[in-house]
Amino acid sequence: MSDDALSNLLHEDRTFPPDPAFEKRANVKPDVYEEATISRTAFWEEQARRLAWDTGWDQVLDWSDAPFARWFVGGRLNVAVNCVDRHVAAGLGNRTALIFEAESGDTQEITYAHLQDMVCQAANALTGLGVVAGDRVAIYLPMIPQAIVAMLACARIGAPHSVVFAGFSAEALRSRINDAEAKVVITADGQFRRGSTLPLKAAVDEAVSHTPSVETVLVVRRTGDDVTWDPERDVWWHEVVDTASPEHEAQAFPAEHPLFILYTSGTTGTPKGILHTSGGYLTQTAWTHWAVFDLKAESDVYWCTADIGWVTGHSYIVYGPLANGVTQVIYEGTPDTPHKARWWEIVQKHRVTLLYTAPTAIRTFMKWGERLPDDYDLSSLRLLGSVGEPINPEAWMWYRRGIGGDTCPIVDTWWQTETGAIMISPLPGVTAPKPGSAMTPLPGISAAVVDDHGAPVAPGNGGYLVLQQPWPAMLRGIWGNKQRYIDTYWSRWPDVYFAGDGAKLDEDSNIWVLGRVDDVMNVSGHRISTTEVESALVSHPAVAEAAVVGAADDMTGQGIVAFVILRGDNTGGEELITELRGHVAHEIGPIAKPRQIMIVPELPKTRSGKIMRRLLRDVAEQRDLGDVTTLADPTVMNLISQGLAAAPGDDA
Ligand code: WT7
Repeated sequence: MSDDALSNLLHEDRTFPPDPAFEKRANVKPDVYEEATISRTAFWEEQARRLAWDTGWDQVLDWSDAPFARWFVGGRLNVAVNCVDRHVAAGLGNRTALIFEAESGDTQEITYAHLQDMVCQAANALTGLGVVAGDRVAIYLPMIPQAIVAMLACARIGAPHSVVFAGFSAEALRSRINDAEAKVVITADGQFRRGSTLPLKAAVDEAVSHTPSVETVLVVRRTGDDVTWDPERDVWWHEVVDTASPEHEAQAFPAEHPLFILYTSGTTGTPKGILHTSGGYLTQTAWTHWAVFDLKAESDVYWCTADIGWVTGHSYIVYGPLANGVTQVIYEGTPDTPHKARWWEIVQKHRVTLLYTAPTAIRTFMKWGERLPDDYDLSSLRLLGSVGEPINPEAWMWYRRGIGGDTCPIVDTWWQTETGAIMISPLPGVTAPKPGSAMTPLPGISAAVVDDHGAPVAPGNGGYLVLQQPWPAMLRGIWGNKQRYIDTYWSRWPDVYFAGDGAKLDEDSNIWVLGRVDDVMNVSGHRISTTEVESALVSHPAVAEAAVVGAADDMTGQGIVAFVILRGDNTGGEELITELRGHVAHEIGPIAKPRQIMIVPELPKTRSGKIMRRLLRDVAEQRDLGDVTTLADPTVMNLISQGLAAAPGDDA
């Protein structure tokens, strides 16, 4: 972000106090903050009572083995029963759980009673395939109901799932399967995308040729396209799940039983398997979903546009919302198929009341035409949410006006894969938010902005975002790597969790999250590591060295810009650049494709050999270069700039 943009941001003084009518009916009242301050553990204990426990806990929080937390110690519950069966038992079996909107426009409504049958069948089928509590199951599926059923079935039998975004490559899938040593992979023949079909099973075939742990691949028939079949390993979902018994007696698991592993990018080339457990995670996702979205389960129609491949899909499509017995829309397709107002058509069609999406989508809609949504009846909407990256005030204002009819409160929710649930956000009906600020930590959560020494900054100053107290949905570690967990999050300052984000406190002590301060990029709300893209580039035979930076991008927040030194007599050219972009897509997935690749003769390095990304970012953002005196060879930057003037651009 440029200094000008930053200072404009921090002089934002518009506030949007709650509408009195909304305030009156709001789920939370202002005294909730004070209540949580009196006793944080008592507060979370009260929220845990929202769930159905088979056995109560003896201890709310055990932090004696910090930074490894244990919440609700001694308690036992079944997460899937909490998300499905107990609503049916409460007489809500006929309530719609999922409104599935296919890309084709077909709609399928699934009640809680029906969902219960589906989950039980899938649980029985997985058990039949030899999956027992503790075994890991990889899920590589598009946004179809079976994806949610598969996750809940795993939860029901205590088999931690590892969902891999269906846009990731075979190679990314393979490494995640191997890290978690998954026994079963659940996938589909293919998926619908922009009016045609894309294969999925083929990527699984490629991945599982190098995954010794995988015994079975369970395949949903979605597109009907041909697939290659290994009769020893592959089974159809319709043959083993749809024919299984819908009777399944669920067993309760300890509160700390692993619920899922979800891989996310860090500062090294290897993604981290973020581990989440059951009781604390479900408590915080359920409570935040109820409080932050002001959920009225009996009347709201909720729609979170994320994919189940990301943590937002885990916490705010599957676990939080279903624990609360919500009716929600899930959508299979892209926002521009068959036309650029598809989302608004869906809001109108299903009378969506609560919408949760990402700033990058909001900016894209603004670009497509700020008046496009005007042709649709969006009057059902009563609250809007934002997540994944900082939302610029301009996008916030349009979201409020163009989508929310100037009446819907907006909740800008800050959290991470690691936090498991929302941490910093306005509370609707209570907070008067400023456009662009996530405002203050939720009740029961402590966050601060600290300086280089770990001391909290005074209002009006910037620093690093940290979390000072354990929270129920916090990660319990990195799968298979205790030390990396400690080193990554708990070593910068003693006893505080370092989130990796820079932030500023305004004069009223509201938090403005500014973005990552580590080597992690945020592209369209997705976290991608610079090192991972660099490794993908250097695995191409023509590449000798690569440096990747995230450059400011009006639409996607950041765009990936790569600086590449070629090997030997490779000369570059448009064709090679296209090939390299394709190579990154093949290694990681299309979301990691660099926006721009610049072929350079040298990279700017310090005397100790460290690449100075700051200078590359200056080049990528077309700014004047900062201080170059610490470079081993200050003339390198001239070489780079000259080379760029001659090199062909690539902004496809
Ligand atoms: C990173 C976490 C949280 C689910 C989606 C992303 C950035 C997230 C906000 C926000 C500013 C935000 C941060 C964070 N981020 N929400 N409201 N304002 N930045 O999950 O992939 O784990 O990424 O996304 O940089 O560290 P994730």
